[in-house]
Amino acid sequence: MTLTVLSLNTAIDRTLMVPGLRPGGVYRTQSVHVDAGGKGLNVARVLRQLGEPVRVVGFLGGAAIPLIRERCAAMGIEQHWVEIEGETRTCLILLDGEGGAPTVINESGPSVTETEVETLRRTLPAVIRSGEILALSGSAPPGVPRGFIREIVSALQSGGVRVLIDTSEVRLGEALEASPWAVTPTVDEAAGVLGPRPPEDLASALAARAEHVVLTEGARGAVYAGGGEVWQLVPPPVTALNPIASGDALAAGFISRMARGDTGLQSARFGVACGTANAAQNAAGIPSMAEVEEIASQVTMARVGEVGRGEVRPTPRI
Ligand SMILES: Nc1ncnc2c1ncn2[C@@H]1O[C@H](COP(=O)(O)OP(=O)(O)OP(=O)(O)O)[C@@H](O)[C@H]1O
Ligand SMILES: [Mg+2]
Repeated sequence: MTLTVLSLNTAIDRTLMVPGLRPGGVYRTQSVHVDAGGKGLNVARVLRQLGEPVRVVGFLGGAAIPLIRERCAAMGIEQHWVEIEGETRTCLILLDGEGGAPTVINESGPSVTETEVETLRRTLPAVIRSGEILALSGSAPPGVPRGFIREIVSALQSGGVRVLIDTSEVRLGEALEASPWAVTPTVDEAAGVLGPRPPEDLASALAARAEHVVLTEGARGAVYAGGGEVWQLVPPPVTALNPIASGDALAAGFISRMARGDTGLQSARFGVACGTANAAQNAAGIPSMAEVEEIASQVTMARVGEVGRGEVRPTPRI
């Protein structure tokens, strides 16, 4: 099955290694890595690394067009871009080379016009088929009207497409109104919509709206809610070199396994392993399948309650 990724806020990611980085200084980079980015393309990259056929639909504009097209072609991604008047953004990821948390500067992205939004709306059902899976990851650029995400989730799902949503704030809220097939927010993103609650309760509450919930908690792993049950998934400890895009790797791992017919719980476990494998290396993406499988075998799973039964008990925090 070809998996579809919707990349509304495509980016060029420039990752700079700047030893000793502190605000206010003048530095010289030790290395510069330029790649196709934005959450959608991060998901697409990991799907390709997992050997899945992938198509991308999204907005792309300006000087970034040849670079992103070339990088996607090199990854073997089928491309259906809506070319826009605005200039696709560049995001800066600054690594200090000493294991400090990365500094990330994300441009908001160009505005898209009504016509460009309409073209995208028409492109989606033309390229994706019933029974397939679409992942909608990341923010929407200015110009995408309120309600757009809800509409496309409804329209695609009534056509038999399974939609996974990995976004935040109002866009997550409106997507939930359309009962998406799956959601993979962080605890903070879910709490932004439902209010602060323990992770197990957040996952259980989201499961009233989505068939599969993978609520992520960084190094602590994730809570899976689906099939009426709530599970805590804990990855083995790793040295996190660059955890950026771990959530994107998790979403990719999850849909890859669901597309192959695994259960929601097994797919979530594999997703957690992909997220952890991504965090453990500097470059965005995952190492070999063998390494991901090895991490997956070390992800512990504990059933912590039932969806909506008020029986979810918080697990001890490690
Ligand atoms: N430091 C870490 N050590 C081990 N695993 C990690 C670490 N950070 C992330 N992960 C793995 O990746 C998954 C997703 O991570 P996280 O909750 O940080 O997602 P996120 O904030 O959505 O990331 P992004 O939006 O940058 O893609 C976690 O559930 C976990 O399995
Ligand atoms: Mg995320």
